[in-house]
Amino acid sequence: MPAAVVILAAGSGTRVGAGVNKVLLPVDGASVLAHSLRTALAVDDVARLVVVVRPGDEPTVAAEIEPLLGAREVLMVAGGADRHASEWAALQALRPAIRDGLIDVVAIHDAARPLATPALYDAVITAARTHGGAIPVVATSALLGPNGLVEGGAIVQTPQAFAAGELLAAYTAADGDGFTGTDTASCLEAYSDVQIAAVSGEVTNLKVTYPEDVALAEALLSRR
Ligand code: CTP
Ligand code: MG
Repeated sequence: MPAAVVILAAGSGTRVGAGVNKVLLPVDGASVLAHSLRTALAVDDVARLVVVVRPGDEPTVAAEIEPLLGAREVLMVAGGADRHASEWAALQALRPAIRDGLIDVVAIHDAARPLATPALYDAVITAARTHGGAIPVVATSALLGPNGLVEGGAIVQTPQAFAAGELLAAYTAADGDGFTGTDTASCLEAYSDVQIAAVSGEVTNLKVTYPEDVALAEALLSRR
């Protein structure tokens, strides 16, 4: 059965501070979002593609993505106040397809990660079919955080993929609870007992978060 892919682009990019949503910034000849969408379009066997858009960004996003689509269709959904709310908006749009058994797995990706590859999507989608859920993880020798230095830490990336029925059930259960997790896996951990497999992340799969990340993404994309 085919999968669905959700691209989250409804943030505002306050930490980059460019004055526009960071996913609309140009890097290596296309917006951050266009790079992310181009990759998602190259993933095999995807029956539904959803882009979650910040209200007001629709015309700009439509102009960015239309040239990439060819015969493919993308569903544009208005995002919410935080990442979790934007995911929930996408899952509600996918609810009929999930209920009718048209898709078995949903992969959710941050548009702000323009360097993820189709192979990484394949890895998480395949692992989610086996285990119920899958996230890309890059091991680090140590992580410095609010609790000091933690040896043997791990950095979690997107795309994260989950069995569609379990994902929808978890987000439905979280609805109205005021839940705002850091990522998709945090909601599944709180509201399901689905197993989440760690697959190898990609060291180049950086998230554009701070101003200097824009130049870094540009350099990495231009070397592909
Ligand atoms: N996102 C979203 N809806 C929101 C907030 C975030 O779809 N209400 C998306 C962003 O567009 C991004 C991803 O979630 O692709 C990860 O979020 P983050 O890196 O925090 O992006 P922003 O929230 O836009 O940035 P900032 O926190 O600096 O404002
Ligand atoms: Mg944010």
